[in-house]
Amino acid sequence: MTTTWAVITGAGRGIGAVLARHAAKEGYRVAAWDLDGEAVHAVAAEIGEACVPMAVDVADESSVRSAMAELSAAPSLVVNNAGIVRFGPLLELAAADWRAALDVNLTGTFLVARVAAARMVAEGVGGAIVNIASINGLAAAPGAGAYTSSKAGVVKLSEHMALEWGAHGIRVNAVAPGLIDAGMSEPINADPAARKARSGRVPLGRLGTADDVAEAVLFLGSEKAAYITGQTLAVDGGITRGALNAMPRGAATDPSAD
Ligand SMILES: NC(=O)c1ccc[n+]([C@@H]2O[C@H](COP(=O)([O-])OP(=O)(O)OC[C@H]3O[C@@H](n4cnc5c(N)ncnc54)[C@H](O)[C@@H]3O)[C@@H](O)[C@H]2O)c1
Repeated sequence: MTTTWAVITGAGRGIGAVLARHAAKEGYRVAAWDLDGEAVHAVAAEIGEACVPMAVDVADESSVRSAMAELSAAPSLVVNNAGIVRFGPLLELAAADWRAALDVNLTGTFLVARVAAARMVAEGVGGAIVNIASINGLAAAPGAGAYTSSKAGVVKLSEHMALEWGAHGIRVNAVAPGLIDAGMSEPINADPAARKARSGRVPLGRLGTADDVAEAVLFLGSEKAAYITGQTLAVDGGITRGALNAMPRGAATDPSAD
């Protein structure tokens, strides 16, 4: 029996650790990659035999190449989830912070997807790649210029990969999580006032969970999504459709003014 590999990057904590659990439950052998080797070993120990942990820096091409060479076959699913935030207004943002966000979020996605796709092509098999963007890749947010630019890049890079690799049977999509109650957003959501205000802006009335994100990723990676490629799926409770929420319309168009 051949092993069906799923590579999940940034699997040491947050959304990535939940993704690794979901992928193992779906029957994948999970290659769990993270810069933090200790964290990803702990996640793998909890999942069991189906999960193979490895310390990998997605922004380092040789690290990515050696990790891919460890797999017994081309992966069927690759989830580019590793990511970092570097907050700061553009006028004050250190160039090193700008580069760090671009390096991990955009270049890391490029390097991992490319080495995986090359292996799929070499072995004559197709596969699915799901790149984790963000609603920040769809709309600007205060103080998040570097992050937003890197995630907008992930959206466009996913479209481009879909275009170039479709003929090889490789589907590439992006998932744009919204306000998620996990991982890097935990410190923000820990403030009860911020949490209430943030939930209140979401049409579905709640923050998202890492499980919400994982379900969408596993769907896009599955045969159920066999004709879907080059798309970005926002998993955001509708918040990116709410730009006109609470926009004043004036008495002339207010039905309650009758
Ligand atoms: N949590 C949210 O609200 C939210 C919202 C939208 C998008 N996202 C995106 O979802 C993804 C996961 O976010 P999270 O909240 O779980 O973050 P997190 O900070 O909890 O986890 C990120 C993981 O990536 C790993 N990582 C960082 N740099 C790496 C590198 N160079 N190589 C390999 N691994 C590296 C970290 O060690 C960590 O384990 C990110 O791409 C993030 O931008 C998160």
